[in-house]
Amino acid sequence: MKIPYLPLRELNARFNLKDQQSFEDVYDSGRYIGGPFVERFEHQFANYCGVDNVVSTGNGLDALTVILLAEKELGNLPQNAKILLPAHTYIATFLSIIHAGMQPVPVDVTDILLTVNDLQAQIHKVDAIITVDLYGKLVDDEVYAFAEAQQKPVYCDSAQSHGAINVNGKRSGSIARASAFSFYPTKNLGALGDGGAITTNDHLLAAMSRKLANYGRDNRFQNSVKGVNSRLDPLQAAFLSNRLTSLDQDNKQRFTVAQFYFNHIKNDHVVLANDGFLMHNSWHVFPVFVADREHFQSYLSNHGIETNVHYPVPPHQQEAFKELNDLSFPHTEKLHNTEVSLPCHPLMTSLEMEYIVKVVNNY
Ligand SMILES: Cc1ncc(COP(=O)(O)O)c(C=O)c1O
Repeated sequence: MKIPYLPLRELNARFNLKDQQSFEDVYDSGRYIGGPFVERFEHQFANYCGVDNVVSTGNGLDALTVILLAEKELGNLPQNAKILLPAHTYIATFLSIIHAGMQPVPVDVTDILLTVNDLQAQIHKVDAIITVDLYGKLVDDEVYAFAEAQQKPVYCDSAQSHGAINVNGKRSGSIARASAFSFYPTKNLGALGDGGAITTNDHLLAAMSRKLANYGRDNRFQNSVKGVNSRLDPLQAAFLSNRLTSLDQDNKQRFTVAQFYFNHIKNDHVVLANDGFLMHNSWHVFPVFVADREHFQSYLSNHGIETNVHYPVPPHQQEAFKELNDLSFPHTEKLHNTEVSLPCHPLMTSLEMEYIVKVVNNY
C-alpha cells in the first residue's frame, strides 16, 4: 500500500468545479486587488471564527508581523518591544518579531506547547506574548488568563489551528487579542497559493492593521504610516470561500484519524503526545516522537508510508539566528530531534489508518 503524507491534488480536486467558476467570476469582475471576493471571504471567516474583524494579508508571516507593527503604531507596544514566544515553533514566529523591529524572547517548553510554568520566569521581563497553536492544538486557556492577570497582551500564531475550539466553545482566532492565520496550501484551510489573515475584536487594531497591510495609506494619495504591501489575492479569497464550508467536516475527519492513532498505536519506541492533546485541536499535524527518527522514517517509507518532520532544526539553532545559537532549550531540541508527522488528513480511509497502525506497531 502507498500512502502519501498529504494528497494535496486530491484534496483540492473536491473543489474543482467551484474553483473554475470562481476563476471566471473573479476574471469577469475586473477587480484584481481587494474587491468583493476579498470582502466576502473576510466576512465569512469573521463569522466562522466568531470575531468582529478579519484583515486579510498576503501570507501568515505578514499577518503576524502586521499585528505587531499595528500595536506599535497604536502605542500599545514600545519600539524594540520584548516578545516572549515558545522556542518550539516554526521560524516564522521568530521572524515576525524581527520584521516588526522587536526582540524575540524564546522560552523552552516542558510539554509541546507553551504553559504557565514555561513563561512564569520571563513574563515580568517582556512586553507581550505570542502563543503558538503548534500542530493545531490550542494553547491552554490558563496561559491567557495568567497573561491577562499580568496585564501582558497575547497574540496567537494560529497558522495551524483553523477551526479548533477551546474548552469554552471559542474558536481559534477569537481567543487572543489578535491572531494570525496562514492559508498556505497545506493548511487545514489552504489556498492555491499564499494567503493569510488577522482576526481581532479590537476595531482600532483591525483598522491600523488594514492600513499597514496596504502601504499605510488613508486614501489613494495619502499615507499616514509606513506600511507594507501584503494583500490577499481575490482569486485566493474566492478559493478559500469555497473551502471554508468544508473545514468543520474536514477537521472532524482529521479528529477520527487522530483518535484512531491514539487508541491503537502501542509501541514503546513510538511516543505519542499526552491524552489531553486529542481535544481542542485541529489536527493539522499528528506528531509522534521516536529516538531514531531517520531509521523510523525509512522503515515507514519502505512500507509505502510517507511521513514529514515539523521541524528538524529549531529557530534558535538556525544560521539565520546566529545571535541565538548559543542558547540552549533542551526540551525543544529533543522535540525537534525526534518528531515524525504521520499522515493525518480528511481523505484517509479506514484501511489506510489500520495499515499505518499495524506497520507502526511492528516497528
Ligand atoms: C506556526 C506557523 N507560523 C507561521 C507560519 C507562516 O505562514 P506563511 O507560510 O503563510 O507565511 C506557518 C506556516 O508556514 C506556521 O506553520
